[in-house]
Amino acid sequence: MVIDARVKQMKALVLSGGAGTRLRPITHTSAKQLVPVANKAVLFYGLESIAEAGITEVGVIVGDTAAEIQEAVGDGSKFGLEITYIPQERPLGLAHAVLIARDWLGDDDFVMYLGDNFIVGGISSLVDEFRSNRPDAQILLTKVADPRAFGVAELDAAGQVVGLEEKPEEPKSEFALVGVYLFTPLIHDAVREIQPSWRGELEITHAIQHLIDKRADVRCTVIEGYWKDTGNVVDMLEVNRTVLEGLDQRIDGEVDEDSETIGRVVVEEGARIVRSRIVGPAVIGAGTVVEDSYVGPFTSVAENCRITDSEVEFSIVLRDSSIHGVGRIENSLIGRHAEVTPAPNVPSAHRLVLGDHSKVQIHT
Ligand code: TTP
Repeated sequence: MVIDARVKQMKALVLSGGAGTRLRPITHTSAKQLVPVANKAVLFYGLESIAEAGITEVGVIVGDTAAEIQEAVGDGSKFGLEITYIPQERPLGLAHAVLIARDWLGDDDFVMYLGDNFIVGGISSLVDEFRSNRPDAQILLTKVADPRAFGVAELDAAGQVVGLEEKPEEPKSEFALVGVYLFTPLIHDAVREIQPSWRGELEITHAIQHLIDKRADVRCTVIEGYWKDTGNVVDMLEVNRTVLEGLDQRIDGEVDEDSETIGRVVVEEGARIVRSRIVGPAVIGAGTVVEDSYVGPFTSVAENCRITDSEVEFSIVLRDSSIHGVGRIENSLIGRHAEVTPAPNVPSAHRLVLGDHSKVQIHT
């Protein structure tokens, strides 16, 4: 029997290092790829879609948050994957990650997946398309309203990529690069050739541009499905909303008779809803108590939180946090072990203990 080596050997390189400056202060203490969406880490959705595409060998690039990522992901067996961790000393760029993974990647084709990116619909059809056509590289594009914050592709009349620019002030198209790339080993020559950009990073857009300049076959696929880089809070909340929209109702915890759940609500085992109203789609994590409160649509409350005498809507609350007696909270991302309480008898003054780079909006 002849085994097609190309089909057998494709690997995935998942980037889970980085600085995560746009998600501070959450990223001062934890990895942005582990921020939960509908109470599951962003990174896990990516790893699941890699497994679904039939890839088992995965290299995970890790930086300062290596220990936390390794603890959460383990050896990959729970995803049906075999994971090798590849430490990156500093976040020196996406192309730098390819450079340091050279030995592990060997001469195999691979999909590079940014660990904080979220794609609805998975990557199986893209991986299949790449396997059957096997161009030198394939990038994914999507139309965005303001391409200036992204890598942007310039296409010719035939829809071929002719150029790439990183965060251009005057974008040449409305097509942004999605955080999934498919490469043959030809990319290794390109990442060795390029120089760091003005921001000191080895840019993957420059490496792909190098391939284009060398007349390599670089193809693009425009994806219609939903894609988001969860690098900032607004996008994170938006992804959470999208995932919660697909939620199925499930009540494994306790809802007392003075409470009601409306619409698609998940109450995990060990959670308690007391004299409260939960309007879905919303998820309440294991061990969390919601008392005399309202939890509104598009809210994910993680494990072991306490919400009392308060209202929370369109927000993500991470584990072990408490919100008590503060009225309404909206559009918020609340970190682990955070406490939100009213100020004791101090009219028109706010008492704050905020971590570095925190952002608070106060009603005046
Ligand atoms: P980015 O979001 O581009 O970079 P960042 O994590 O440094 O974030 P910020 O811009 O907010 O400071 O990174 C995309 C993904 O790739 C993310 O999961 C982090 C990862 N990454 C690495 O693993 N190594 C790197 O050198 C870089 C730049 C990113």
